[in-house]
Amino acid sequence: MTHLIIGVTGQDGSLLAEKLIGEGEKVIGTFRRGGDYGNNDKAWRLDELKIKNLISLEPLDINDIFHFQKLIIKHNPDIIYQLAGNSFVGDSFEAPQSTLATNINSTINILETIRSLNMNTKVFFASSSEIFDSSTFEVKNETSKMEPLNPYGISKLTVYHLVKMYREAFGLKVSTGIFFNHESPFRARNFVCRKISYNIARLKVSGGPSFSLGNIDMKRDWSSAEDFVDGICLIVKKPGDYVLSSGNLTSVRSLLIEAARHAGFEPKFKGEGLKEVCYDAITGKVLMTISEKYYRKIDTPGLMGDSEKLEKSTGWKKTKGINQVICQMVEKDINRIKNKI
Ligand code: GDD
Repeated sequence: MTHLIIGVTGQDGSLLAEKLIGEGEKVIGTFRRGGDYGNNDKAWRLDELKIKNLISLEPLDINDIFHFQKLIIKHNPDIIYQLAGNSFVGDSFEAPQSTLATNINSTINILETIRSLNMNTKVFFASSSEIFDSSTFEVKNETSKMEPLNPYGISKLTVYHLVKMYREAFGLKVSTGIFFNHESPFRARNFVCRKISYNIARLKVSGGPSFSLGNIDMKRDWSSAEDFVDGICLIVKKPGDYVLSSGNLTSVRSLLIEAARHAGFEPKFKGEGLKEVCYDAITGKVLMTISEKYYRKIDTPGLMGDSEKLEKSTGWKKTKGINQVICQMVEKDINRIKNKI
């Protein structure tokens, strides 16, 4: 089968490509047109996973429907995975227009192409837990009230509705994964888990200044990105909308403690509010300070997801908890820094 991964250079795209290639499948991967994947950092994940030469890489402007259609006609994929777009919630307040335009136009372009060309192609779209109403704390599933609090969440709610409408009105085999947070050593450094793992590793291997975080008492339902990639492969076989989550809440503070301990520090906290610091009780060195800069205008309170629908209808099972994932991330970052990767 031929698989087209839109956004193959991102965390989820590269892990999905690795899985499919390992299963002997043919993978076409797109990267953002205008970026030279060969001469900059864009393809670092594919390089590290040693799969860059095993993928047919294509530049794509997903907002240009004609460009997308040429690609589809050229490769005629059996399954398309839309994993590209703006994914940083914090940034979406600064760039609401481009967040909405990119995430929504790309969805319509794919759905309209499949419909108008009468294709039998299955398509997976990534949505987000940021679509849910966070004024109540009951565990969220596919039937929970949806009321996003940020431009990113609004764009992902539109993705969810468009996919559902095209599936129900036109019978397309299209699905949405409503992703809660998911992490791996291949996460970008602007997300909090990788920011922690990278900086703890840096402080361990080469020292240097402490790093800053925002609100460390925020909680999230965090999972392993590899488990979610397994979920994506099951979902495309049973088109629908599915929540992917761990069902547990963990604070940023507790992940910082886990990461620091795993690296051999003895993390302790002192001070309050913006003056709070995390230091290593063995050496007295300050590891982390708080900066107002990383506080969100509106931060979605921690919500928990319920993946029962996915588990019951596809047999999906999670294999790792977030503490195990953050420790793997620290180890990988220590190796990268030691080996200058
Ligand atoms: N990024 C970041 N940087 N977050 C921080 C920091 C910091 O220095 N300090 C505290 N946080 C808090 C954020 O305020 C938030 O409450 C939490 O850590 C997690 O932030 P992120 O890792 O940036 O993830 P996110 O929850 O905003 O969004 C991720 O998960 C969504 C699914 O729930 C992204 O992957 C989204 O694309 C995804 O949809």
